[in-house]
Amino acid sequence: MPPKRKPQNQGEESPRAKRRSRRNQDAAAKAGVSASSKAVATRTDQPLASGGKSRDGQAEDLAKETSSFTSYPVSKVYRLIEPGPVLLVTTGSFADGTHNIMTIGFHMVMQHESPPLIGISLGPWDASFAVLKKRRECVLAVPSVEMAATVVDVGNCSSDDGVDKWTKFGLKALPANKVDAPLVGGPDVIANIECVVEDTKMVGKYSMWVLKAVKAWQNPQKMETGRMFHHRGDGTFVVDGEVLNLQDRMVKWKEYQD
Ligand SMILES: Cc1cc2nc3c(=O)[nH]c(=O)nc-3n(C[C@H](O)[C@H](O)[C@H](O)COP(=O)(O)O)c2cc1C
Repeated sequence: MPPKRKPQNQGEESPRAKRRSRRNQDAAAKAGVSASSKAVATRTDQPLASGGKSRDGQAEDLAKETSSFTSYPVSKVYRLIEPGPVLLVTTGSFADGTHNIMTIGFHMVMQHESPPLIGISLGPWDASFAVLKKRRECVLAVPSVEMAATVVDVGNCSSDDGVDKWTKFGLKALPANKVDAPLVGGPDVIANIECVVEDTKMVGKYSMWVLKAVKAWQNPQKMETGRMFHHRGDGTFVVDGEVLNLQDRMVKWKEYQD
């Protein structure tokens, strides 16, 4: 998992934050409450009291409802929304034997098609970073839960330590079609996506690479039944469970259904 980054502008209020705070104060003034009255000043979109209830009464009601939540550290929000599934990333060249493999949990789909784009966070603390920078291509493999322990072990050692992870973890590299980096083989791999680097503008600041998928492979034995697993950010994982089919409600997005 990526190491913690130094927080920026700690203790300073950015111009944007100042503007937001001023807007909140103005809104609070309009609502007839002090800007320090947290419940209302920060929730200016709440409807005004109805049924003759005073503003104080309304604030009390809101406070009661709010107490069903307790504060959560912002430094850990990634644990709430860290997407999955955990992926393997291969880089280097299968042909000359310089291929490497690592684990990532931070990634996102950025565009459906024309072209399909995927963002991954892969940082300079990984040996794979320099290789991706040089060769501008990689493969994203989707492992199923049967591989979870291996995938975690792969993400806890580096080729910089002289480890050949393919041999050490009994992983099978297979030649890809459009890139030099290999696919990950084996019955427990759900899919492989061959990618080329599309955009590096956010790499310096966020280690965020925008990749273009150029070829994809599925394992038909696993596509329906294979369960992916998702990192909760603290070494615990959630495994795919029940499938909820709400396709008939996705009235605006029919084009994304087969
Ligand atoms: C569950 C898990 C998730 C990880 N997620 C990421 C990630 O999103 N981005 C990243 O750069 N490293 C991530 N890592 C760490 C890399 O896999 C790790 O640094 C690895 O040793 C890099 O291998 P390399 O140095 O051979 O390239 C993760 C590790 C684990 C175990």
